[in-house]
Amino acid sequence: MKTYLKSIARFICIGVFAGCALRRSEPLVGTFEPKTTEVAKGQVLYNEYCQKCHPGGEGGLGPDINWNPAPSFIKKFQVRHGLGVMPSFKKNEISKDELEAIGKYMKAYKHQKRS
Ligand code: HEC
Repeated sequence: MKTYLKSIARFICIGVFAGCALRRSEPLVGTFEPKTTEVAKGQVLYNEYCQKCHPGGEGGLGPDINWNPAPSFIKKFQVRHGLGVMPSFKKNEISKDELEAIGKYMKAYKHQKRS
């Protein structure tokens, strides 16, 4: 029974890490061209803070956030306060302007994907 549980746990762990590693090795967006400097800044920040769990805005360890229709203030709240596995990012980690840029980037990225 114990070994059975262990192998399930191991299977899940390997699955999660393999999934992350594979997705992480891919470029976030092959064709995404940020059109403003703020979006470009947001992209860099997103890659630094969010990409590991939300690769390309799609489901990874975290859920798909490209298609989350929640208004941006709710998304910002989520970043500031965290939820479940998602950590919270305080103002000394991600400033207000930086969070704004991340939001602009997420918006630009999802609109580009749709077209
Ligand atoms: C350690 C992994 C991790 C990191 C880093 C992370 N997230 Fe998350 N995120 C999650 C998980 C897990 C959830 C789902 C939380 C839940 O519902 O319990 C989530 C949920 C979200 C949601 C809500 C999605 C929904 O449909 O409910 C948004 C928006 C979001 N994250 C944005 C971000 C942004 C922006 C960043 C970077 C500043 C970020 N996340 C960094 C793991 C992460």
